[in-house]
Amino acid sequence: MPDVPPHAPSKINLKDYTKPSFDVDTVHLDIKLFEDYAQVDSTLEMVRQTAGDIVLFGESLELLTITMNGKVLTTEDYQQEAGKLTIYNVPERATLDIQVRICPQTNTALEGLYMAGSGDDTMFVTQCEPEGFRKITFYPDRPDVLAIFTTRLEADKRYPTLLANGNLVEAGEVADAPDRHYAIWHDPTNKPSYLFACVVADLDVLTDSYTTSEGREVLLELYAKSADIDKCDVGMQALKDAMKWDEVNYGRAYDLDRYMIVAVSQFNMGAMENKGLNIFNTACVLSSPETTTDARSFSVKAIIAHEYFHNWTGNRITCRDWFQLCLKEGFTVYRDQSFSADQQSSAVQRIDDVATLRAHQFSEDAGPLAHPVRPESFVEINNFYTTTVYEKGAEIVRMIANTLGPDDFRKGTDEYFRRYDGQAVTVEDFLSALSITDDKIENFIDWYRQPGTPVVSGSQTYDSTAQTLTITLNQQTRHVKGFDAPKPLPIPVATALFDKDSGAIVAERMLLLDEATQTFVFENVASEPVVSLLRDFSAPVQLNYDYQDADLAFLLKHETNGFNRWQVTQMLVNRILLQGQGVKSSPDVYLEALAQTLPVLSADDAMLAARLLDIPSAQELASAISKDYDPVLVKEQRDGLYKQVADKLKDQWAELYNNLPMQSYEDSAEARGIRALRNVVLDMALTANVDDAADWAKQQYDNASCMTERFGALKTMVNHQLAGADKYLADFYERFQANDLVIDLWFSVQAAADDVTPDMVKSLLTHTDFDWNTPNRVRSVVSAFSSQPTVLWTAEGLEMYTGVIQKLDDANPVLASRLLQVLARWNTLAEPRRQMAHEQLVDLQKNVSSKHVLESLESV
Ligand code: ARG
Ligand code: ZN
Repeated sequence: MPDVPPHAPSKINLKDYTKPSFDVDTVHLDIKLFEDYAQVDSTLEMVRQTAGDIVLFGESLELLTITMNGKVLTTEDYQQEAGKLTIYNVPERATLDIQVRICPQTNTALEGLYMAGSGDDTMFVTQCEPEGFRKITFYPDRPDVLAIFTTRLEADKRYPTLLANGNLVEAGEVADAPDRHYAIWHDPTNKPSYLFACVVADLDVLTDSYTTSEGREVLLELYAKSADIDKCDVGMQALKDAMKWDEVNYGRAYDLDRYMIVAVSQFNMGAMENKGLNIFNTACVLSSPETTTDARSFSVKAIIAHEYFHNWTGNRITCRDWFQLCLKEGFTVYRDQSFSADQQSSAVQRIDDVATLRAHQFSEDAGPLAHPVRPESFVEINNFYTTTVYEKGAEIVRMIANTLGPDDFRKGTDEYFRRYDGQAVTVEDFLSALSITDDKIENFIDWYRQPGTPVVSGSQTYDSTAQTLTITLNQQTRHVKGFDAPKPLPIPVATALFDKDSGAIVAERMLLLDEATQTFVFENVASEPVVSLLRDFSAPVQLNYDYQDADLAFLLKHETNGFNRWQVTQMLVNRILLQGQGVKSSPDVYLEALAQTLPVLSADDAMLAARLLDIPSAQELASAISKDYDPVLVKEQRDGLYKQVADKLKDQWAELYNNLPMQSYEDSAEARGIRALRNVVLDMALTANVDDAADWAKQQYDNASCMTERFGALKTMVNHQLAGADKYLADFYERFQANDLVIDLWFSVQAAADDVTPDMVKSLLTHTDFDWNTPNRVRSVVSAFSSQPTVLWTAEGLEMYTGVIQKLDDANPVLASRLLQVLARWNTLAEPRRQMAHEQLVDLQKNVSSKHVLESLESV
């Protein structure tokens, strides 16, 4: 292969998939934890499926012995190279006994079995998805190998909590070792190794129970440190709600007698759906009114539901290979979004999901890391836990669900569970089950294969004699290097026509655009209507329609679809700030429309009112710019428009604020809406220099009934650099010093402050509470800081940022590579920043070695 440079990490391709030669029937694991290492003994019962050798994966393992059918194997019998152990001349059935030694105490990558915490506050946990199990022992660590696991854990009694998947079968003292004890767990479900988990710790537990629709009594347990056990009620309630929701909406009941969740402070991702033993980042499970903002608490519920839903979409039916990751993630995100939409206004849920999609996925799809929802090749699968796989993956399932309608979608999902329960399957299998009532659903496969965000453009002509309205739509997707020329995709465009005089809907239809250009004719249309397209964001596309600003203002007033009311405000903002759709609008129409809408809406639906005041962040705006991006200019224009909105409504902020008084805490959609709007109004009032607004902020902080109020006030004080803000920051630190998650907020509000400088960030990175081994803490500074593009994209800012990546490259490559993805669009910068950024990235490339980071730098 002369054209491959010697250090290029090797790629794995979907087209090279082959079935494993051997299956595993049962696995017995015996994990003994000692002061500075662990010994793992395993027994695998393997059965031949096809011709070939046994291939086991293993990384960072010290192999002690390996025997097959009782005979000790030597290097004559097997070969070990680059993370792989191949055993030759294997009979039909083989019992493998393998002993290895590992070191969880020095595992900073947080994959496999690792120690979290420090000093005498430590615990041991696992993270095996996608390929962490191979850091625990040699194993055919691939999702299409399913087995029955029995796990024995042994440790010092300092760690009273010994947990693994399934049911507890036995526990007791270790003979001849008075300080040690053990527990044996058995999981009766066949599962891939990535769903293995164990925990060795000293934790408290919140217990509850749930009776399934099938009559099964399930013990529910939420484990956390004793100081955090009072923050587990929200998560427990969400778990019960999710269990019920899946029974009602998908006919899926839980299948074991026990469901456990463990909160861990050091975790690379949000949470993990290990069978019967979920492991959660503390930030994604702990919640209390005093310490957790509403937004966070709401996402705790969504993540609890997400991991629970995986029990059917992921665990009982899993992925054949990691290219199919979206099979479980896209579907499960769609399910958790639907669950969340039932807990609040569905319009607000859709707004938040679409805002996330646009800010992150659209920008990923437009940049050098663009990939299909089902990638075709990768170097490091950890780099593909992306917003494209997750969120765009969910959008495809949503389009299918909307195309089929609720009854046929349910028929399709029932068929999926019926056909594939207990198997490891592909996206094609999923589509084939969903198309039992409509074979056109199979056409959605191209959405999984083709990268890039389609742009849908359109216009209308009205014929007053024939009384017809003709809408012409066309679609275009950029050609991403390395892929076939893009094909037209099936794009459902939910459309409504509004009568210009009455504002009433005169026609409603789902248009299916599945060719490059198509026309759609509406008959019996008495006068030229205003057209509202892509209602509820019926497809993940960019929309360019030949609207007048006045049409958008009309829709803001008359649309009945709450999502589209928000969407037109965003289109107006885009036209003002980015010349969206080639139109450069003046802000007048937008400001006037807001001024008319807001007072009414704020009384009706405070949460939606708060969203209508959204102006995308500078970072989000940047993601829509493909060339000559000037961060300073974008920020100036963005802040300028924000100020214009604040000034336009200057006389109303006091009344609005006073109409939203602080009340004793309640966790209802209405109360959350009031708190959200109050924080937005407070910030607007300070921006408009309303008299007394600084006092409102201070009073809100002092009298806060919950974190949403207190942190909202603090953030505003910091961003407006109010006199005394420092005092409040110090007070906040003092009050919450013992709570890591709140101290994360304290770090992030400073690192993301409007006036942050690289020096300020440096001093946060060297603060005594800063900890490089806790991803939440690293993100609280580093990711927060990256939300200020004018500082990030300077020589000093980038030097610091790339320094962080370099520092983490070896210690925690998964985290390093994730943080790096923020820099992917350096390419769009205007000179001289572009050149400067390029040089720094080339430098970084020379100083890193993980395949994770190297793959993310491939396009530099
Ligand atoms: N499957 C988990 C979830 O979506 C995420 C695990 C990702 N872990 C990782 N190391 N990339 O709920
Ligand atoms: Zn997931």
